[in-house]
Amino acid sequence: MATLVRQQADTLTLDDLDVSRTEYWLDHDVLPRFARLRAAGPVHYCPESAYGPYWSIVSHQHIMEVEGRPDIFSSAWDRGGITIFDPREYSEEDPPLPMFIAMDRPEHTGQRRTVAPAFTPAEMLRHEPNVRQRTAELLDSLPEGEVFDWVDRVSIELTTGMLAILFDFPWADRRLLTKWSDWATDTDAVLDAERNRQRWEVLFECAAYFTGLWNDRKDAEPRPDLISMLAHSEATRDMSPNEFLGNLVLLIVGGNDTTRNSMSATVMIQNEHPDGWRRLMADPGLTSNGVSELIRWQTPLAHMRRTAVSDFEVGGRVIRAGDKVVMWYLSANRDEQVFDDADTFLPERANARRHLAFGFGIHRCVGARLAELQLTILLEEMRRRQISVELAGPVERVNSPFVHGFRRLPVRMRRG
Ligand code: HEM
Repeated sequence: MATLVRQQADTLTLDDLDVSRTEYWLDHDVLPRFARLRAAGPVHYCPESAYGPYWSIVSHQHIMEVEGRPDIFSSAWDRGGITIFDPREYSEEDPPLPMFIAMDRPEHTGQRRTVAPAFTPAEMLRHEPNVRQRTAELLDSLPEGEVFDWVDRVSIELTTGMLAILFDFPWADRRLLTKWSDWATDTDAVLDAERNRQRWEVLFECAAYFTGLWNDRKDAEPRPDLISMLAHSEATRDMSPNEFLGNLVLLIVGGNDTTRNSMSATVMIQNEHPDGWRRLMADPGLTSNGVSELIRWQTPLAHMRRTAVSDFEVGGRVIRAGDKVVMWYLSANRDEQVFDDADTFLPERANARRHLAFGFGIHRCVGARLAELQLTILLEEMRRRQISVELAGPVERVNSPFVHGFRRLPVRMRRG
């Protein structure tokens, strides 16, 4: 089998192998490319790309194998971190931002444990009425028949509001969270000296703002918001300023682009899979499974990256110590070995929950329940109002092989 896999992979050209090219993502041309890679084998080596050489893991089974061996496949920021983009040469003006998603054991364990209590089922119950009220008010405020941008009016507004609640962040300033998240993830800005300087100005503004909140909360009684939790926990209260900023950026970004793009997927599904959407809206019993299916279908983070610390065989290919390994969740979630008719949105799909959009293993998304809560409520409140949305202009996508989502979705909405 290993020989077969290697022979098939050898017939692929560089154009086939380099799925990271931004134009494939911008033009939404990447899914058939992943299908061709999967047909040729589960693991492929791309010898050159804008991000240097890298391995692509494209099957569901082999991503689970890689994520199941964090001792071999490291997430550590000082080895390469968690995205295909390589870390830059760091300096005092351009320092690293350590965050626990980009740490290995044992540091990862303590820091994750500190924030986990913010995402328990009991906390979700506590947030539910608030999330529902904000979602209902927002949907009631949307103009009927007029063209507006769903990304800005709905997806960004709802996810930013949720983060403000989690941090107990001053409500009137909540759009600062969107600004900080957008600058933190602007991978183009990092490549341009002037824009990178601007980026750091914005990130320092973020750090200064949060330091103010931190100082207030560390001297007060512990409360269930994330800042208070970090300020009072033994694992996190003595973080260096950069680690503090890094973990804040992680929580802001983690809860932002991801849920935002799942909410935007509601528009695409209505337009591309109207039958599945109609069945979902007609049957409240399908909501919970429909949320998993929506997250599978969209897969808002297309990949996570690891760096091998020693030689290891995966899917018949030998990955060498130091190699960059990209686990394409977007491909795993369309893997025909696991999901029948994988490109179609089917709210009743029996195994929708097996999707890997939240990752797997020790780094599996800590905010998964919160994302599901927000999406459940959005679907329920859309159903209650019988809201339907049609595209009313060109779809603008994010030009990145990391965030799989939308910049702009001009839509026209109807109620009833
Ligand atoms: C649909 C929405 C979301 C998706 C698709 C998503 C996806 C992911 C993925 C793929 C990972 C890495 C998993 C791995 O390496 O195995 C991750 C980790 C993480 N996510 Fe999410 N996420 C979502 C929502 C959220 C929310 C709402 C928050 C918090 C407000 C959040 C916070 C985090 C954090 C802190 C981590 C790091 C966990 C660790 O390293 O242990 N995410 N997420």
